[in-house]
Amino acid sequence: MSSTAVIGLQWGDEAKGKIVDLLTDRHDVVVRYQGGNNAGHTVAFDGQTYKLSLLPVGTLRPSITSVIATGVVINPAALLGEISQLRARNIPVGKNLLISDRAHVIFPYHIAEEAVLEDSRGVNAIGTTRRGIGTCYRDKASRSHAIRIGDLYFPDQFRARLDEIVTQKNTILKALSPAFQPLDAGQIAEEYLGYAEQLREHVTDTTAFLHKVIAEKKRLLFEGAQGSLLDLDHGTFPYVTSSSSSGCGIHSGSGVPERHISKMIGVVKAYTTRVGGGPFPTELNNEIGQHIRDVGREYGTVTGRPRRCGWFDAVAAGYGARISGVDCLSVMLLDVLSQLDEIQICTAYEIDGCVTKDFPSHVAALARAKPVFRKLPGWKRDISGVRKLADFPAAARAYIDSLSELIGKPVEIVSIGPDRDQTVFCS
Ligand code: IMO
Ligand code: MG
Repeated sequence: MSSTAVIGLQWGDEAKGKIVDLLTDRHDVVVRYQGGNNAGHTVAFDGQTYKLSLLPVGTLRPSITSVIATGVVINPAALLGEISQLRARNIPVGKNLLISDRAHVIFPYHIAEEAVLEDSRGVNAIGTTRRGIGTCYRDKASRSHAIRIGDLYFPDQFRARLDEIVTQKNTILKALSPAFQPLDAGQIAEEYLGYAEQLREHVTDTTAFLHKVIAEKKRLLFEGAQGSLLDLDHGTFPYVTSSSSSGCGIHSGSGVPERHISKMIGVVKAYTTRVGGGPFPTELNNEIGQHIRDVGREYGTVTGRPRRCGWFDAVAAGYGARISGVDCLSVMLLDVLSQLDEIQICTAYEIDGCVTKDFPSHVAALARAKPVFRKLPGWKRDISGVRKLADFPAAARAYIDSLSELIGKPVEIVSIGPDRDQTVFCS
């Protein structure tokens, strides 16, 4: 058993894509199991940068099979766009990409509904990526208005069903937003039937496929999207995404029980970022936050929004590590902190006069949390060329050791730049 999972322990954007890419050559199958094109996974090699959103990172290596499993929500136009972009860069995408026939489909009304909902909430908006992710998952949970990829291959039933759904959606959207122009069910049906034809060679029962390859002792790599603190059940609700983006989602999203996974790798940035709304105790609304944003190029891959930046929060990431059940840590973007004189790590929260290391279950309590910081000296040296743990400056070693101690897990990988070779394996 040598399957692995890569899970973000913060609010997403932990550079999971780089770790998945590094591990692909030790695996046979890469599996995306939740989220949709709200994710933005960046991979750099051979002087090229690839940004993937729905496609698993494994797609960049044609010898690997990549699976978009049942728990993912799929915008077919976005998916086909990504596939053609890769093909245009001479990366073949064929039978090596499998798409679950049980995955749910994002339609234009999902995107329209999300825009209306977000616009109506002003400063209290969730700050979503506006890709129709939450509204699609909502329809999946309520079932009556949901369409799965497999439904697209029964055109008559699909057309009739979509007609019924679009009629209702038009009524709702018109009531919520009088300027809304009704959608044409027939036109959407034909458009989506066209997408279905283009995707046909990829669509299959991925759960059956995954169990077949497990029986053949193939090695699976599970690629988490978003992060543990954005998990619908366990994250900072309601400022979360609509899927199980902690380790909890692997089983439900792929149909593969966790006992088939031998290693869960928790990915953390050496600091913290967040996009969208919600409390962020260690946020730095000052020149240090701006410095981190500039050096770390902290702008959203999907939406281009500037990311909120702050010190590493060991209370939050420690909670993420516990709910996701990770075995070890991969610390990313350590090089971004290289110019700072002093670096801080949040070790506890003070909430209403009480100091706690527990992560609050309610965002109102998190919003009142004042971080208790440990201060460490900066290393003030370029570390992007370091390739061995022993070659890090002592202050950088001390920083890595503090993260490990506070989260209670060993650090196995440290990343000091976007390229594959800017990686230090600690064991
Ligand atoms: P990767 O995989 C960071 C955030 C959005 C918003 C909230 C809900 O690149 O780490 P949604 O559109 O999912 O309903 O938005 O979740 N969010 C992410 N933040 N990285 C991501 O993915 C994210 N995907 C969603 O900014 O706050
Ligand atoms: Mg991202």
